[in-house]
Amino acid sequence: MARYHGTPKRGHWSSRLGFIMASAGSAVGLGNIWKFPYITGMHGGGAFVLFFLICIALIGIPLMIAEMVIGRHTHKDPVGAFRTLAGGPWSMVGWLGVTAGFVILSYYCVVAGWAVNYLWLAIKGTFGGGHIQQVPELFSSLLASDLSQLFWQALFMGATIWIVLGGVSDGLERASKLMMPVLFLILIVLTVRGLFSPGGPRALSFLFTPNWRMLDAAAMLEAMGHAFFTLSLGMGAMLTYGSYANERTNIPNVAITVSIMDTCVALLSGIAIFSIVFTYGMAPAAGPGLVFKTLPILFSQMQGGTFVAILFFLLLVFAALTSSISLLEVVVAYYCDEKKWQRRTATLVMGFLIFLLGVPSALSNHLLADVHFIGGRNFLDSIDLVATNYILPLGALFIAIFTGWVMTTRVARGEIEKGTVNFHFYPLWHFLIKYVSPIMVAILFLSKIGLI
Ligand code: PFF
Ligand code: NA
Repeated sequence: MARYHGTPKRGHWSSRLGFIMASAGSAVGLGNIWKFPYITGMHGGGAFVLFFLICIALIGIPLMIAEMVIGRHTHKDPVGAFRTLAGGPWSMVGWLGVTAGFVILSYYCVVAGWAVNYLWLAIKGTFGGGHIQQVPELFSSLLASDLSQLFWQALFMGATIWIVLGGVSDGLERASKLMMPVLFLILIVLTVRGLFSPGGPRALSFLFTPNWRMLDAAAMLEAMGHAFFTLSLGMGAMLTYGSYANERTNIPNVAITVSIMDTCVALLSGIAIFSIVFTYGMAPAAGPGLVFKTLPILFSQMQGGTFVAILFFLLLVFAALTSSISLLEVVVAYYCDEKKWQRRTATLVMGFLIFLLGVPSALSNHLLADVHFIGGRNFLDSIDLVATNYILPLGALFIAIFTGWVMTTRVARGEIEKGTVNFHFYPLWHFLIKYVSPIMVAILFLSKIGLI
């Protein structure tokens, strides 16, 4: 029975609310505010959004429940969890997750660093007063300066390390409980503002009127892949967060709440951003530059633009920070649980090494711009491609197969029904995780690697 309680030194959430806030913090990130609006814009809106919601419900929620169940049952890091439950080659799934955390965080800090830089520019008033001409140049001059990118990357990584040093309840949980409510507040202000602007109604019809002709196979795959990334699934982040939960916690309830919160943030960001885009007659399909290149132009033209810009980039930085701490936590949990390192040592050493791996990403747009890796991509785009298109779907596939086919019903059902009077949906969950998720994820993975 000892393993049900883990080692006494291990951290844990101080309350169910803390667990929910930290997990929602991990889920809500650059994926919601930067990526979701621009991929929705590129795929024509409505139908893409609807298919994305179906993926969240059919694959995302069951998989989040599965990860949290594995974590809470073992009270271990991803490697230790799979070793405890099955051993042998299954430990590799944990390894894949820890590696993904290491790799994703290295460049997540670079992109988040851009957001911190924009927050600083907004505070300095750069986006006020209608200096439209300079705005597009800001992004290219940031990318052309190796030193400033390294500076903002280091600053963001420092903040991430500082929070993780604080531990589970005093670091991760406290930071998320502080930042998430502010984030929701800012988002609601921006959404209401957007809805009452001239472009508001068009934003709503763009997002919620399905245009089925735009929903091709590529769009469906993009929507499914994004469902994992946005819910922090496929690499053991939700598994690690679940390992800090107590036996009274109702896991399905937490997973559903977190997924709904993440989806709401994505949809509200979409409404806020497309309202501005349509109000100023911009193209919704502007691509990855939407947040950094398009929006600041609009801020510079609108009334109170400086204030709106500060709110917007504060939102982006907070969202990124509550996600980056969960990425670092996966790596730190592994060194603490498996290698018996002190939390302090693990956080400082791994944080520094991850920063070093991020350096080529920070330099990839200028100093290393001519060094090409996968398909002519620079370093940052290459490891982003490997991590989100290959490692996360592969990890998600293994986790679904493991939970549906390897883990015994007794363990899974027992874990799911803890803290509930009666979870009536167990058979539905079991069916989704055993058949629907593996098949859909396998299709996604095989097509990503070009086999179908
Ligand atoms: N869910 C985060 C986002 O939407 O930005 C990204 C992420 C965080 C992915 C943590 C994976 C992870 F483990
Ligand atoms: Na997200």
